[in-house]
Amino acid sequence: MPARKKRCDKSKPIRLGIWGLGRGMSFFRSCQALNIQVVAGCDYNEHMRKRFLEHCPNAYATTDSEQFLKQDMDAVLVATFCPAHAGDSIRCLDAGKHVLSEVTAFHTMAEGVELVEAVERTGLVYNLAENYPFGKPMMYLSSRWKEGLFGDLMYAECEYVHECRTLAYTYIDGVPIVPGNTVHNWRSWIHFHYYNTHSMGPVMIIGNARPTKVVSLPGRVRLPGYLMKSERGMSGIAPSLISFENGVVMRNLMGATTNDTHIQRFWGTLGSAEFVDGEMRFRLGASGHSPKLPVEVKWPEQGELADLAGHGGGDFWVLYYFARQIQTGEPAPFDVYAAADCTIPGILAYRSSVEEGRAFDVPDFRKKSVRNEYRNDNFAQQRYNVAKGCFPKNADPSLTGQFSTIMRDLINLATEYRAFVEWEKVIGDVKEPVKVIELADKAIAVHPQLVSAMKAARQLADAYPRSDGAQVLNEMLELAEEPVTTAPGFLRALKRRRESLAKRFGK
Ligand SMILES: NC(=O)c1ccc[n+]([C@@H]2O[C@H](COP(=O)([O-])OP(=O)(O)OC[C@H]3O[C@@H](n4cnc5c(N)ncnc54)[C@H](O)[C@@H]3O)[C@@H](O)[C@H]2O)c1
Repeated sequence: MPARKKRCDKSKPIRLGIWGLGRGMSFFRSCQALNIQVVAGCDYNEHMRKRFLEHCPNAYATTDSEQFLKQDMDAVLVATFCPAHAGDSIRCLDAGKHVLSEVTAFHTMAEGVELVEAVERTGLVYNLAENYPFGKPMMYLSSRWKEGLFGDLMYAECEYVHECRTLAYTYIDGVPIVPGNTVHNWRSWIHFHYYNTHSMGPVMIIGNARPTKVVSLPGRVRLPGYLMKSERGMSGIAPSLISFENGVVMRNLMGATTNDTHIQRFWGTLGSAEFVDGEMRFRLGASGHSPKLPVEVKWPEQGELADLAGHGGGDFWVLYYFARQIQTGEPAPFDVYAAADCTIPGILAYRSSVEEGRAFDVPDFRKKSVRNEYRNDNFAQQRYNVAKGCFPKNADPSLTGQFSTIMRDLINLATEYRAFVEWEKVIGDVKEPVKVIELADKAIAVHPQLVSAMKAARQLADAYPRSDGAQVLNEMLELAEEPVTTAPGFLRALKRRRESLAKRFGK
C-alpha cells in the first residue's frame, strides 16, 4: 500500500456530485472539512433531495441521472443501490467524472472486468469507499503494525455482524419503502456474503497482501422476518476462510443474527491485537501467554478533522485519499484493483457456499489474460422481484400500502418487548437487575403501539395468507407472542410483573 506523503491541495476545490442521497449524505461533513464543493445530487426519493438541498441550497438536485451526469463536476460519489455500483460507476467514468464508489465495487465477475477496463480506458480516478480500515482503531493498529510491533501477520478474524432487519423494509433513514407493498431494493434479498468488505478491508491493509483463495460452507438457519426462505437474504450467517498471497489466513464473518459485532482480531509472529466492544487490547512479548493490556487508540495525523467529520473518521480518510489522488496523482489504498481484490472474495464465498464448500481462486484483475476468463462470468444470486411486491397483483393497495411501515414497526416493537421477556428469565443472574426493570418500563411504554401494529399486521396477513408479505408478518407476530400480548389484561399483568421485580430487585 502506498505511503502517505502529500497533503490534500485545498487550493483547487473539487466539484463533487452525490448520486444516492441516503448514505451518500454521510460524506457531507467530510466534504466540508476537505473543502470539496458539493454541486449536485441525484436521488429518486423526494425526502432525500429535500434534505440534500437544505444542506446545499445552491446545488442542483434531480431524480434524473442523465441530467445529473451532465452537470459541471469533477467527480461523483456513487452511493446508489449496492448491486448497481459497477454499472453506475461506469456511466460516471464514461461521462468524464472521477468516481468514489460505495462498497461493494461490483456484483458479478463480468461486471468487475467491465469496471476495471472502464477505469483503464478513461484514465480517470476510481476509488472504493471502503472505510473500516481508516476509522481510528484500525488506523492506529495499522500504523503500529507497520512499525513492526507485531511481526508478520499470521491470522485474522474480522466480523461485520449486523442485524439490520428493519432496513429490508425502510430506506437508510428509517422512512418506510414506497410503495409500501414492497421491500428494499437489495437489503431485502442480498446474501450477506456480498457485503464482505468492511471485515476484509482492515486485513488487506494490515496484512498488505491480496487474497488468493476463498472457501465457505452454507449456514441454513435464518432469522425470522426476512423474505426468501431458500436464499435467506441478509438473514443468517455468512462465514468464509480467505488465504492471502503471503500465507496469511483470515476468517471473514458477515451476517445477521442475535449479536451485532464488529470484532477484529489479529495474530502476528511477535504479538497480537484485538478490538472488541470498543476497546483495543494488545498482547506483546512474542508468546501466547505474554502480557495483555488495553491501549488508547490515537489518530496518526489530522485526527481532529477526521473526528469532526463524524462516522468514526473513516469516511474522512476515504475522501481525503480520493481527493489527493485526483489532485496529486498519489494512489489511494483502494484503487480499482484493490477494490476488485476486496469485492471478489464475497462473490466467490457466496458461490462456494452454494457449491457446498468448493474452494475458489481469487483472480487478479490487474492481468488482462486473467480477466479474459471472467469476462462472461455472470453468476449471481437469484434476486427478489421487488417491483412485483410482496402481495398478489389484484390486492387492495389501501391495505398492502401499509406493509413496509407495519414491518418496520413490528420488528422494532416486538424486539423491544422480547428484550424484557428474555431478560426476565435470568434476572436472578444479572449483575445489574435494575437494567431488566428498565426493560420492563420500555415494554410497558410500547405496548399500545405494539398492539396496534399487531392488529394491522394480522389484518394484512389474513387478507393474503399465501403471500410473501404474510410469511414475514406472521413470523414477526409470532415473535411478538401475539396471543399472549393481545390478551385482555396483559398490560395490567405486565405492570404487576414489573412491580414485583422492582420489590425483589430494588427499584
Ligand atoms: N461504508 C459504510 O459504512 C456504508 C454504510 C451504509 C451504506 N453503504 C453503502 O452505500 C450504498 C447506499 O446505501 P444506502 O444505505 O443509502 O442504501 P440504498 O440502497 O437504500 O440507497 C440508495 C439511494 O440511491 C438512490 N438511487 C439508486 N439508484 C438511483 C438512480 N439510478 N437514480 C437516482 N437515485 C438512485 C435511491 O433512491 C436511494 O435513496 C450501498 O451500496 C451501501 O452498500 C456503506
